[in-house]
Amino acid sequence: MTVSLKATAMAHPNLALVKYWGKRDEDLMLPHQSSLSLTLAPWQVTTTVEFGGVSDEVFINGKVAEGAKRNRVVRVLQALRLGRELGPAKVVSVGNFPEAAGFASSAAAFAALAVAARAAAGLAPNARDASLLARLGSGSACRSVQGGTCVWYRGDLRDGRDSFASQVFPPTHWPSLRMVVAVVSSHEKKVSSKDGMRHCVETSPFYAQWVMEAEKAVPWAETYIRERDLPSLGKLAEDNAWRMHATAMASSPALVYMAPETLMLLSQLQRARQEGLRAWATWDAGPNPVFLCEAQDAPSVVSWLKSFSIQEVKECSVGGDAQLLETHLF
Ligand code: PMV
Repeated sequence: MTVSLKATAMAHPNLALVKYWGKRDEDLMLPHQSSLSLTLAPWQVTTTVEFGGVSDEVFINGKVAEGAKRNRVVRVLQALRLGRELGPAKVVSVGNFPEAAGFASSAAAFAALAVAARAAAGLAPNARDASLLARLGSGSACRSVQGGTCVWYRGDLRDGRDSFASQVFPPTHWPSLRMVVAVVSSHEKKVSSKDGMRHCVETSPFYAQWVMEAEKAVPWAETYIRERDLPSLGKLAEDNAWRMHATAMASSPALVYMAPETLMLLSQLQRARQEGLRAWATWDAGPNPVFLCEAQDAPSVVSWLKSFSIQEVKECSVGGDAQLLETHLF
């Protein structure tokens, strides 16, 4: 095997319309249910990996990563090193969007890490294997290896070999689809997705129902995307987000990721829709809602959001695959 030792990749984050919420195996990051997401451009994370050196070194957005953050990166490197003669690695990662504000910045980061690390180890590109590797860093990262619409099938095997994401529609399938992100807060969330999920699995009386409903929603979401039926897809995504948050809020003690501004926007949205605004919302484990709409309606959605003095509004479209880049970060 020829080992190239150094490689750089970039990946986009993804926005789940049917969310992943809860692990059946914490160590292998295996979910209780399948999930479906859209890849988000232009946001991206670029990561360079170089094998060699004396110990693993990890830098994220210009800072040395320590503790849990570093351990998650090392875990992915370890999985790749298993059975291969690869030394410690230097990993440098830079993103162009707020970290840990409820957007899956970790998804883009671990997808870029998996793709770059595999290339640095001399392995040929393979979306399935990169997705399996990315999953070990952050579950949702397995959906950021490919662009367009991706489905992460939960899988059944205990070792997780069948728990990876695949593209079901390329970005060209629905190029006019837009995701308008309202940043109501860019502070790091108080309860990580990992801890929040565990808390819900252990204490929410609604958890089993959440799993059943989410699993059923995935094929419906695929159908609505196939038909480019935004009202049906939007309603499904909104229902799914409310259900995930209801499950979290029913945990003991209650887990609330929404801020007052989130609820305000969601209730105003229902009114605005009655008045003709064609937008539907989803929101992850954080306070920032994302509005699904057609490109032609995006300006109305943006000006509607600005009327509430939202600090930052970003318009995203459906992004492509994670890619290897020629230029390295170091
Ligand atoms: O993969 P994690 O640990 O970042 O969890 C992601 C969980 C949600 O963003 C809330 C939902 C999802 O499917 O992306």
